[in-house]
Amino acid sequence: MKILFFSAKPYDRQFFEKSNESYGFELEFWETHLGPHIADAIKKDTFEAVCVFVNDKLTAEVIAVLAEKGIKIIALRCAGFNNVDLDAVKKHGLRLCRVPAYSPQAVAEHAVAMLLTLNRKTHKAYNRIREQNFSLNGLMGFNLYRKTLGVIGTGKIGAAFCKIMLGFGCKVLAFDPYENEELKKLGINYLPFNEVISAADIISLHCPLTEENRYLINAETLLGMKKGAVIINTSRGALINTKDVIEALKNGQIASLGIDVYEQEEKLFFKDLSGSIIGDDDIQRLISFPNVLVTGHQAFFTEEALAEIASSTLSSVAALIKDENPSDKNAVLV
Ligand code: NAI
Repeated sequence: MKILFFSAKPYDRQFFEKSNESYGFELEFWETHLGPHIADAIKKDTFEAVCVFVNDKLTAEVIAVLAEKGIKIIALRCAGFNNVDLDAVKKHGLRLCRVPAYSPQAVAEHAVAMLLTLNRKTHKAYNRIREQNFSLNGLMGFNLYRKTLGVIGTGKIGAAFCKIMLGFGCKVLAFDPYENEELKKLGINYLPFNEVISAADIISLHCPLTEENRYLINAETLLGMKKGAVIINTSRGALINTKDVIEALKNGQIASLGIDVYEQEEKLFFKDLSGSIIGDDDIQRLISFPNVLVTGHQAFFTEEALAEIASSTLSSVAALIKDENPSDKNAVLV
């Protein structure tokens, strides 16, 4: 049983090879992302599974080639699956699995880190002090205590985030089509989306990207927010219309923005482009704002999460190849 990895980084190899000691699969790691440019290069009848990540492109065209090459399983080593054409997976009789929850705390804690950095400007203080500049001008933040937080999506990550923010003494409002009873008992108040965003000082996005919520944050919803709101997005880039949020940052409607995900991230993230000229003017504009913090899709990136991703992925592949159900039924998408 041979698994071909795309978008493979040294840390993927490290954690998958360790976890594979319990399975004994043959693993082959390709650095390139999966897309139409490379699918044809897969040797026919050699691999039974491909293992892919967030920016691999599993279009209908790519999936048809995978099926033709003898691939039976597509294993996403992430939770989100907006990069996969599910109908094409079904049409070609492939199986598709993901890692539904590897460490919601990893992502929730990163969202908090982004919020604290933007608010208390520790990134600026770090650089200043290294220059022996001990002045406080421009470093003022605000207390999170008693601020109103709006959480969009209270699944596993959103729920973990809500609980952390309750610990800060925030008032937490939430919108999710499915309300979480445990969170309600803890004091989280569910309201319609527009009411949450209009009341919140800080808005954090924790819902998946779907066709319905693409550009959930756009010119109109930005105007519906409190002037000077803070937005944090660790979910998927296209939840935010980048051009609209740039305008809102320029005119002061938004006080600051923290994004770990970006609409056009597949051309940028997970790569060292320090010697390159970046053609994407929107990301360059965002990076130029002093009140914007961009991280390169690293919210999941903890030791615990990587170990869980590797063991959950291999366990699902082992089950699917025997036509059995993985222990976590939410891991199977098709
Ligand atoms: P989950 O499936 O446990 O929860 C998602 C929640 O969003 C559900 O409760 C669902 O009802 C709700 N929802 C769906 N559409 C909504 C909408 N339009 N408005 C409000 N709520 C909506 O997913 P989980 O594990 O909490 O992950 C959330 C997202 O975080 C993932 O879909 C993924 O895009 C992102 N993610 C980002 C990572 C990173 O490293 N930056 C790592 C892992 C996940």
